[in-house]
Amino acid sequence: MDKIRIRGGRPLQGEIQISGAKNAALPLMAAALLTDDTLCLSNLPHLADITTMATLLAQLGVVINLNGQSTDDGHIGRVLDLRCRDIGSTRADYDLVRKMRASILVLGPLLARCGQAQVSLPGGCAIGTRPVDLHLKGLTQLGAEIDLREGYIHATAPRGLQGARIIFPTASVGATENLLMAASLARGRTELVNAEREPEIGDLARCLVAMGASIAGIGTETIVIDGVERLHGARHAIVPDRIETGTYAMAAAITHGDIELIGADPGLIGAVAEVLDRAQVRLEPTNRGVRASRKDGVIRGVDIITEPYPGFPTDLQAQIMAMMTVAEGAAMITETIFENRFMHVPELSRMGANITVHGSSAMVRGVGSLIGAPVMATDLRASVSLVLAGLVAEGDTILNRVYHLDRGYERLTEKLLACGADIERLKT
Ligand code: UD1
Repeated sequence: MDKIRIRGGRPLQGEIQISGAKNAALPLMAAALLTDDTLCLSNLPHLADITTMATLLAQLGVVINLNGQSTDDGHIGRVLDLRCRDIGSTRADYDLVRKMRASILVLGPLLARCGQAQVSLPGGCAIGTRPVDLHLKGLTQLGAEIDLREGYIHATAPRGLQGARIIFPTASVGATENLLMAASLARGRTELVNAEREPEIGDLARCLVAMGASIAGIGTETIVIDGVERLHGARHAIVPDRIETGTYAMAAAITHGDIELIGADPGLIGAVAEVLDRAQVRLEPTNRGVRASRKDGVIRGVDIITEPYPGFPTDLQAQIMAMMTVAEGAAMITETIFENRFMHVPELSRMGANITVHGSSAMVRGVGSLIGAPVMATDLRASVSLVLAGLVAEGDTILNRVYHLDRGYERLTEKLLACGADIERLKT
């Protein structure tokens, strides 16, 4: 298994190209199941999760062609043509679903297009139990019959799906997306109440509209979908990755550097900019994206609570914690989305951080410096938080289990190297 070696202490200077958002790309790819025409997606990031979704879709009958690269603003994002003339299989096997939880996003489209689906239950996950009850309950309200046996969700809709008013008891990004796709081909009107408002959901909704869907209330808590009989092909460019943007902004701040994040959309990172501003980190919109640097000499400790969009994202919680370990003063970081998302704490502590966890909150007391160490993480965002810590630590940090990073950060070592980081991937 590959490792990453980082020698900390170099301020990062230069430019980093922000890729298309992984969390928008995955549901958008699943949307190809809703039509027999071609869906052309551009600005796709080149990531392991995208390959997993492509493999799953191919098993279901989607023919996928790499149609070159989009070069808007000089950025190289991939362009994929996805065409599902006929659904070849309605079964998403355990082998792929266990690799990537977002595989559950094929459930709604398969049910809507062909009235049945068998999708493996995703099972446990490193950052909490993460059930799929909200997806299943919503689909049941649209008329699906759902049976759980032998580790699989067996869903049928013999009479097709019928629009309904679905009130989510708690908001879920994936359930909102699954229901949005299913309702687009259901008979009549569906109302999704207490829907999530993440920009990636808006991106999916806009693509569905381009495919002929009728959707109102995009970006609000109540989304209204009038089902149509058929969706057609479309072309759609994926939104920039706001989590990658926030991560590299923190890389600039933690190393006392200055990085322009090309292609970043400042409109998507309001809560992150507000927290960074309080921490004395400046995010300035530029013609090409956003520039990140410290305001004055020090990063200040600030309290942070993760919340659904437009609040501070849970997917940046581990990274801001890494930044707070070297801040002046203390920071209370509260995680409200996932119940077990502090696995980076023991690893950061091994590098000299001073962190105490009380339930869903972590008290971080800033220390003068971190010391490099061999570390490993159990999920994507925890891994990248250790990269940030490694960039500022004295000496060498060796990060194990690099495959987590490959799931969600495109060319991470190359991007950091180009800004002057002392980082290398060790092939084993
Ligand atoms: C998505 C993102 C992930 C991000 C998360 C929260 C993708 C591919 N992944 O994950 O990066 O961290 O949103 O912003 O877009 N829950 C239930 N029942 C359900 C579904 C969810 O109880 O049926 C709970 C989860 O356990 C979790 C919370 O709801 O505690 C939020 O999960 P959800 O918004 O569904 O996250 P994902 O869509 O899995």
